[in-house]
Amino acid sequence: MRKLLIATLVFLLIWACKKDMDITCADCDLTHIDYNPKPYKIIRPAGFGEMPIPTDNPLTEEGIRLGRFLFYDPVLSSDSTISCGSCHKQEFGFTDGKAVSPGVNGTLGTRSSMSLFNVGYYDTGLFWDGRSSTLEKQALEPVENPVEMHEHWPNVEKKLQRSKFYPEMFRKAFGIKEKKEMTRELAAKALAQFMRTILSYNSRFDEIFLRQEGFPTEQELRGYDMFFNTSLDLPDAQCGHCHNGFLLTNNGYFNNGLDSVANLKDYKDGGRGVITGQYFDYGKFRAPTLRNIGYTSPFMHDGRFSTIEQVMNHYVDHIKNVVNLDANLAILDLTPSQVQDVLEFLKMLDDPSAISDPQYSNPFK
Ligand code: HEC
Ligand code: HEC
Repeated sequence: MRKLLIATLVFLLIWACKKDMDITCADCDLTHIDYNPKPYKIIRPAGFGEMPIPTDNPLTEEGIRLGRFLFYDPVLSSDSTISCGSCHKQEFGFTDGKAVSPGVNGTLGTRSSMSLFNVGYYDTGLFWDGRSSTLEKQALEPVENPVEMHEHWPNVEKKLQRSKFYPEMFRKAFGIKEKKEMTRELAAKALAQFMRTILSYNSRFDEIFLRQEGFPTEQELRGYDMFFNTSLDLPDAQCGHCHNGFLLTNNGYFNNGLDSVANLKDYKDGGRGVITGQYFDYGKFRAPTLRNIGYTSPFMHDGRFSTIEQVMNHYVDHIKNVVNLDANLAILDLTPSQVQDVLEFLKMLDDPSAISDPQYSNPFK
């Protein structure tokens, strides 16, 4: 009886140790795995600028591959139900098609998911309020955000270290020597690398206006002329003041007159003001790209408009006059047929090839 007890205890002890070792595996050596990352040269589409790449996180095929797996892996969330890809779905232009996004347990956030196309070019701050300066910093946020993945990084690091395939992928991407070097910082670097490769540059707008391969229809051209105010014969639709360049945004922060308030601090979501603390920044948000808006509804930081027609209706007829309303939006006078022309131009910004590009799709499927 006593022998049995001792045997059982010894067994339990070994089992407990083994289990513990499996979990922490602090000194698991990875140096037997080849480390020879292949530099990845990101393409520079016609009409696009140079993408800024931080010197301490150069793109490599192995890094991008790791980032893509992490992006689509629900292991980053507390109950393994939510991945980055749950709220950034390729078929919705890397948004989720919802006004605000449900995170773990269906908890709703207060903001609408943002498209990730060409996100590597955004250099005035990420998120609607610009609170994160780099993709490397941004990528750390969703995991610990209670309304998103509601997890803790130390846990995620353990889960990744225990995984069958991530240790090898981290080694190949970053040359780490042992599992305990699989940190959140490297995970964020890999996610950032993958996100920099998510490009959209094959819309009709690119083809016709950036690459000069063909001609717009008359209606598209009228819409273009109004959007960018390039014709004296047509009224200025004002859009191009903020939504311009190859990104279709200047990435500035503006109040585009969605709600009227007596005091700017009364905004339910203060946006940029909460970050800078400046009174006149309350109610301002980053002007988003208009690329692929045919896929990214609903619109605005809180997803209040479900169609582009409603957005146009806002700009043409319902601008609220607040003290920090952008001057370009004060008066906008378009006839219904001119509104149709602008809508026709906006359709040129959709890029079906990017929506179905297998490079950015879920690698687990
Ligand atoms: C629960 C839904 C949800 C999940 C999960 C989620 N996001 Fe987001 N994402 C959002 C929302 C909502 C915003 C806008 C938030 C804001 O402005 O405060 C956003 C914004 C972003 C932006 C900023 C884009 C820009 O133009 O500034 C990036 C980049 C991003 N997410 C990447 C990620 C990555 C990487 C992950 C996984 C680690 C992730 N997201 C997980 C909902 C989500
Ligand atoms: C003064 C700068 C400015 C001008 C001019 C402007 N916008 Fe915007 N636009 C913004 C800002 C800022 C937002 C985000 C506001 C928010 O979410 O609170 C926005 C959001 C949008 C969105 C929503 C996109 C999304 O992903 O949710 C669309 C569509 C849009 N604008 C189209 C237009 C069109 C069309 C015009 C011309 C009729 C126009 N904008 C003129 C600054 C501007």
